[in-house]
Amino acid sequence: MTNIKNDLYNTLNTLVSHHTVIGIGSGSTIEGYIPYLAKYISENELAVKLVPTSMKTERKLKEAGLKSTDEIDRIDVTIDGANQFTDDFIAIKGGGGSLLREKIVGYFSESIVIVASDNKHIEELHHITLPVEINAYMHRVITDMIEQTLGISTVLRKKEGEIFITDNGNYVLDCFLPDISDPSLFERKLMAIPGVLETGLFTKHINQIISFNDDEIKTLYK
Ligand code: A5P
Repeated sequence: MTNIKNDLYNTLNTLVSHHTVIGIGSGSTIEGYIPYLAKYISENELAVKLVPTSMKTERKLKEAGLKSTDEIDRIDVTIDGANQFTDDFIAIKGGGGSLLREKIVGYFSESIVIVASDNKHIEELHHITLPVEINAYMHRVITDMIEQTLGISTVLRKKEGEIFITDNGNYVLDCFLPDISDPSLFERKLMAIPGVLETGLFTKHINQIISFNDDEIKTLYK
């Protein structure tokens, strides 16, 4: 595992340099990456700006001695994790419930680099669970509309028996999808429903995927 960690550390060479504005994703993979990022920034004495995609990531950056900001006019690259990814550079995100901020930060980034263990690789978008952030207000009606419009079943996410609430004060609906043949069209249909705030389907901006297991690391470029 040590070599893999070195290899992951070395990927920072190509992603981060002086004055880079970096979006920092959420989830355990990225949390594991943050100490390497901190080391890289300090060893190379880099002045960078870090834009966190969740309150937890902001805390983790602080613990690593790094400052966060959302006062930026551009983001050069976002480094984020994924629940699943395909060879077509599509990712399913939001397992940790940070999809809305991840989508905003990713959308305004020049590029998104996904870092994920290779067991998250899928051949196609078949039988997946898609997290969708919805408004808490009228959430039952919004849920019914999603289920009817798209012909799918959903579950309102709970944590320790209570409704899970996102950093933005909203709810997350986990949507069970048998198949998505046209991801962009599917997303447009979902987003057209009032009260749907964002989906964990990432079809744009990802142009690099770094996947790893205990023995090797592979980088896929778009
Ligand atoms: C957070 O909401 C997610 O989008 C994460 O990026 C994704 O769930 C990957 O998380 P892990 O690295 O913990 O698997």
